[in-house]
Amino acid sequence: MQILILGSGGREHALAWKISQSPLCTRLFIAPGNPGTASLGQNLPLPVNDFEAIKAVCLQHQIDMLIVGPEDPLVEGIVDFFNQDELRQIHVIGPSAEGAKLEGSKAFAKEFMHEMGIPTARYKEFNADRFAEGVAYLRQHPMPVVLKADGLAAGKGVVIAQNTEEAIQALTEMIQDQKFGAASSKVVIEEFLSGIECSVFVLTDGKNYQVLPIAKDYKRIGEGDTGLNTGGMGAISPVPFADDVFMHKVKLRIIDPTMQGLIQRGISYKGFIFIGLISVAGEPYVIEYNCRMGDPETEVVMPRIANDLMPALLSLKEQKLDQELCEISPMHAATIMLVSGGYPEAYQKGKLIQGLELVEHCLVFHAGTRLDDGQLLSNGGRVMAITALGHTLTDALSTAKQNVQKIRFDQSYFRTDIGWEFE
Ligand code: AMP
Ligand code: GLY
Repeated sequence: MQILILGSGGREHALAWKISQSPLCTRLFIAPGNPGTASLGQNLPLPVNDFEAIKAVCLQHQIDMLIVGPEDPLVEGIVDFFNQDELRQIHVIGPSAEGAKLEGSKAFAKEFMHEMGIPTARYKEFNADRFAEGVAYLRQHPMPVVLKADGLAAGKGVVIAQNTEEAIQALTEMIQDQKFGAASSKVVIEEFLSGIECSVFVLTDGKNYQVLPIAKDYKRIGEGDTGLNTGGMGAISPVPFADDVFMHKVKLRIIDPTMQGLIQRGISYKGFIFIGLISVAGEPYVIEYNCRMGDPETEVVMPRIANDLMPALLSLKEQKLDQELCEISPMHAATIMLVSGGYPEAYQKGKLIQGLELVEHCLVFHAGTRLDDGQLLSNGGRVMAITALGHTLTDALSTAKQNVQKIRFDQSYFRTDIGWEFE
């Protein structure tokens, strides 16, 4: 099979690493990819949102399967776009635009959860017409309070306000100043939940589903989970507190009703559902849905899938996932993200990366790199993810930590305390 993966980050490198090992994969393309994916297949310089260009490349290279990494093309309807005559035989991994609304519209996701009785923070939704009501609502709301722009805002659309003044300011910026354009013309205001988070990944054909390895990512820039939010500074899998008892609750209260909700609404969903959960005193609540895999979670999830992932992906088309289950390795995985100094605020690119050849017993997934005249240079905030496996979490973390230090570039930074709560 000829396979095309869309995207260019660590997530797509990890997907490419897994897919390229399958005997069913005869040729692998990644668009646009990165220098890491270039060693596993052929990179194609295409923007992930240019559906016409993607169509042309799929026909030219006789692509059989398209795996969509990031959310944007899904929310914009790439799955529906491929549901046209010349393209219909191409198997696209991802939900329809309607399914992708679980991520693309917070208001839609909240209403969906409310209707299905899925535990989540209590909320109300406001728009420009109801701005004054929103302010009044915030004035009587206990603090902290959470404000979420309805639409996609590149991971920046959530504000946790510590006091009423901050909350009103955030609401004003989102609705009146249109901080995120149309994405914040509607805002969800919800109660703040206190607990520990984890990421649950579900592969579904719209009828059957399978839970993939559970992971936890570390979003804050600073040690001990302090400072600004980032795209993710590291991840571990499995997650010690997400034991069988907890996961049983997740299945009964969250995954099963999510599947029922999709089926009841006639939503076609053949791809990954990423459920961001928070455990409040051992009870799971949904923080958010995403319509794709997580990054950097994929960098620990893929290495823990013990068998070929392709049969499971292929089975989604005919809704036969129940016959093609993935095997999950009992090993622990940890990944540490090496980032550019200054990230997630201003940072420099184009730094020479050295020491990769010294890395042992680890997988290195490129996130923001580029090749220039044979030299590997940094090309983003998150530069690369270093993943290690071990028989224990401590072993995996220790190998990842030892090796991340071997990769050097000017002003690089990484967190030394990924997994800190569990060691
Ligand atoms: P998101 O951009 O939706 O991933 O949200 C960013 C982060 O905000 C989440 O990972 C949580 O840490 C936090 N968050 C979102 N909603 C809530 C909530 N209701 N209570 C507490 N924290 C939240
Ligand atoms: N790691 C969180 C995300 O991918 O959204």
